[in-house]
Amino acid sequence: MSTVRIIGLDLGTTGARAVLADLSGSTEAVYEAPYDLHTPRPGWAEQSPQAWEAAAYEAVAAVASVAARPDEVRAIGLTGQMHGLTLLDDEQRPLREAILWCDLRTGPQRRALENDIGVPTLIRHTGNLPLEGFQAPKLAWVREHEPRRLERTAHVLLPKDYIRLCLSGECWTDVSDASGTGYFDSATRRWSNAMLNILEIDPAWLPEVRESPQTAGRLTPAAAERLGLRAGIPIAAGAGDQPAGAVAAGVVVEGDAAITIGSSGVVFAASSAYGAAPDGRVQVGAHALPQRWYLMGVTQAAGLSLRWLRDTLLPDATFAELVREAEQSTPGSRGLLWLPYLQGERTPHLDVDARGALVGLTTAHRRADVVRAVLEGVAFSLRDAAVAIEGVGAGMHRFKLAGGGARSPLWRQIVADVFEAPMRVEAEGRGPAFGAALLGAVAAGLFASVEEAVAETTMPFATVTPNAAGSSALEAAYARYRDLYPALADANRAAAATQAAEFNAT
Ligand code: XUL
Repeated sequence: MSTVRIIGLDLGTTGARAVLADLSGSTEAVYEAPYDLHTPRPGWAEQSPQAWEAAAYEAVAAVASVAARPDEVRAIGLTGQMHGLTLLDDEQRPLREAILWCDLRTGPQRRALENDIGVPTLIRHTGNLPLEGFQAPKLAWVREHEPRRLERTAHVLLPKDYIRLCLSGECWTDVSDASGTGYFDSATRRWSNAMLNILEIDPAWLPEVRESPQTAGRLTPAAAERLGLRAGIPIAAGAGDQPAGAVAAGVVVEGDAAITIGSSGVVFAASSAYGAAPDGRVQVGAHALPQRWYLMGVTQAAGLSLRWLRDTLLPDATFAELVREAEQSTPGSRGLLWLPYLQGERTPHLDVDARGALVGLTTAHRRADVVRAVLEGVAFSLRDAAVAIEGVGAGMHRFKLAGGGARSPLWRQIVADVFEAPMRVEAEGRGPAFGAALLGAVAAGLFASVEEAVAETTMPFATVTPNAAGSSALEAAYARYRDLYPALADANRAAAATQAAEFNAT
């Protein structure tokens, strides 16, 4: 008997991940094809669009081959790393490596845009500041440093939309990803002509925008042949990885929020009305379903904090061993505090010069305390993000916990204790690629709406409830944590300046 299937593709920061799912929400195949991240200078992060393309084909073909018949696959949904800048010439060839969301070269351009245009104008037109990772300051950087490339630019695409071009020959984007460029008006869900004028960006460079579950391109015969799929199937406009992950976690109505602990950490709240933070400390965007918006706060180094600790100081330990050991410490980590600002910080400080710190060390501390402090520090930073989101007026009443960090029982408990709220833990495999597959299913008419797709594919989940003793110890630790960023700001600015000078001298 033939089963209807859908494919979701997530063009991530470390690789392209494809999933094959059916309409009950079962994931039948997952495949990830890695690619390199290039760091030609500290703080820079680039990737080759051609490497994305090869990995995307490899991943989609691998999961497609699991479907018994190619015509069982009815649609593809796309998602991926947000904000990245892909420049193409008039023959749709990449003009340089893509500059990624985590690239921090654009500090001077961001400051100049904020000074010249003014925060109130930026917020009025887009709801957001032109954060370092966004396309707006990146285009300003290219204008300043590579003007010849800008002269040859005919198309400016977000990462996942480059893959759409490869698969369909068409340029489109979706409202949620467009929201992270710095020139999209999330309130009206259109490019902001006012911002394009101010930034001197040619509107002809930009793709047209669709709602996430709409069709935006169809698989060409050539791509279909390479993938073993049927030509002409719809490709959903799709979504940025955070909104698509929220769809996968069923975070689609006001009051729902997702907390994701991956390399970075994200608090993502769904909202039924548009609202922006006047100081831009919270990211706002159009959610992956019509008439919904999102508010988002980001911890730059969440899982990355633990990875740094392991790779740099404890290379002989596995993550599982470290986290098991951390269970021997106690809530509050015996007075130790970790500031996870290893890559500066986005929410709430928006400060690329913020730096990490381990505060309160004595000879009595053991490895278990240090690891637990790192897990707690990340949870505190996520709570800071949630506080900033609540400041914009979005209530969060139901939390889903997702990402690699949600697989650790200790980290889950710490997050539940720090938030003093039950955490529903998302089933494994329910990441952005699955959310993109659901958007594909809606584009193909297999579900009437994103809400219906979510309701029909819900899976059982575990719930972690907060522990009163843990919460009270962590509440006290969180109060001390909040004092640290201002207390260390001068020292960290000086450290950042020294680090920059040392690099420039080499
Ligand atoms: C969201 C963000 C990251 C990237 C890469 O604003 O910067 O989630 O999309 O995953």
